[in-house]
Amino acid sequence: MNISTTIGNILEQDTDAIVLNLFEGVTEPGGATGAANRALDGLIADLIAGGDFSGKFKQTAVLYPHRGVASSRLILVGLGKREDFSLNRVRLASASATREAIKRGAKTLASIIHGGGIGGLDISDAAQATVEGTVLGNYKFTAYKTDEDELKSLDAFTLVEFDASKQTDAEAGASAGQIIAESACFARDLANTPGNDLPPSTLADRALEMARETGLSCEIFDEQRILAEGMNALSAVGQGSVRPPRFIILEHAGTNSEAAPIVFIGKGITFDTGGISLKSGDGMWDMKFDMSGAAAVIGAMRAAAKLDLPHRVIGLIAAAENMPDGRAYRPGDILHPLGEKTVEIHSTDAEGRLALIDALAYCARYKPKAAIDLATLTGACVIALGNETSGLMGNDDNLIVQIHQAGNRTGEMAWHLPIFDDHRDLIKSKVADLKNSGGRPAGTLTATAFLEAYVQNFPWAHLDIAGTAWADSDKPDTPIGATGVGVRLLIDFLRHGSTA
Ligand code: BES
Ligand code: MN
Ligand code: ZN
Repeated sequence: MNISTTIGNILEQDTDAIVLNLFEGVTEPGGATGAANRALDGLIADLIAGGDFSGKFKQTAVLYPHRGVASSRLILVGLGKREDFSLNRVRLASASATREAIKRGAKTLASIIHGGGIGGLDISDAAQATVEGTVLGNYKFTAYKTDEDELKSLDAFTLVEFDASKQTDAEAGASAGQIIAESACFARDLANTPGNDLPPSTLADRALEMARETGLSCEIFDEQRILAEGMNALSAVGQGSVRPPRFIILEHAGTNSEAAPIVFIGKGITFDTGGISLKSGDGMWDMKFDMSGAAAVIGAMRAAAKLDLPHRVIGLIAAAENMPDGRAYRPGDILHPLGEKTVEIHSTDAEGRLALIDALAYCARYKPKAAIDLATLTGACVIALGNETSGLMGNDDNLIVQIHQAGNRTGEMAWHLPIFDDHRDLIKSKVADLKNSGGRPAGTLTATAFLEAYVQNFPWAHLDIAGTAWADSDKPDTPIGATGVGVRLLIDFLRHGSTA
């Protein structure tokens, strides 16, 4: 989608549709909506008085103005109650209007910046959220669709600001919003791609291709190099597949390539059958999404590069396919991962944590300012927190607070859960140092305690995105399927977090 910002009057935009807004309870609209109402001899006020449109959050109404407005359609979107207004609501309102425009067959859309005038938000933030809503609302995973009707989406979006003094800020916000939301869509595409078309080597190819386009550096370890590095846990997880594992390193140098970096680590299980501890058919079909942590890291690295962020940022991805086979690793096996501590395998379905501990051990060599891993790690996290909130754990309260805040700002909520000694006790093995499963009780926390054992003296946080990486129901900014969760949160953390 082509996205631009222009200074002028929205009523003069010659697009297939324009978007205006209304707070709930307002009877005499002001701002651009007021100007449209006057141009249309009070039509919008009549619509409100007649009860057809109240400004309820995400509500939409479509008018065909004929006069006073250059565009053929005028879409009104509700911003909800003024006291509940936020950047998250801007994003969702913008996405709702975008969906309405697409439904009506619009190809070109112009919108005011929601909350930029009457809403009282920072203009750059409001422009960013408005554009993010449009890009996310315009997203569809169409790579495997041949039906033309399913491919309908916007070609062009124009953000229209009346006040010329706001131009620079509006443009900066719009451009950041486009980069960040398109990076989230890039992550969605990766995670929506089925296992047959995205083995570890292809995931690595996609990361490499993206790195070449954005100027990131990228190094890929194949299965021999993974073994030579001593990443025996990642290797074990992948050994049952005919499609071998990869370890991917992406680097954004920032302004000082010698600085202590922020490291993002992603679980990249391109398909999780459970291995010899085979999953049931029910729980398996959607496990193509088990590389959503990797997708988030690749998406965030893309955004960091395109935003030209000053930070040095490194992305590490442990990619493997977890398959049952004659060569597969088995329950009872004892592994020697890159981090010292030996692991007894209790379930080959607890594979994500095995892939991650080699990445966490590798991470130590960077002496990072902070490391954040993202993983669709435990079904228990879905039960605990549902599909809107990621589990957030770690060894550094300051880092956790910053990630929590980034979650609130972006609407990618994350909630802090503990790791206590009883969780650490549950993963002690009788024959090795640790076992890879602590059983069902506190499954999210024992998994985190397992990761923690391989974190050497750096601030670290773990996001369990098992519930949030996939949407089972449609929302204006998220169709059913991969959500791209984490990309917006990680970038917000880089831009606004104090550690970063
Ligand atoms: N990828 C799954 C986690 C998962 C399960 C995500 C369901 C989303 C929905 C992970 O590899 C896994 O299988 N975890 C096991 C761990 C258990 C064997 C200790 C789980 O959560 O059941
Ligand atoms: Mn598993
Ligand atoms: Zn898994």
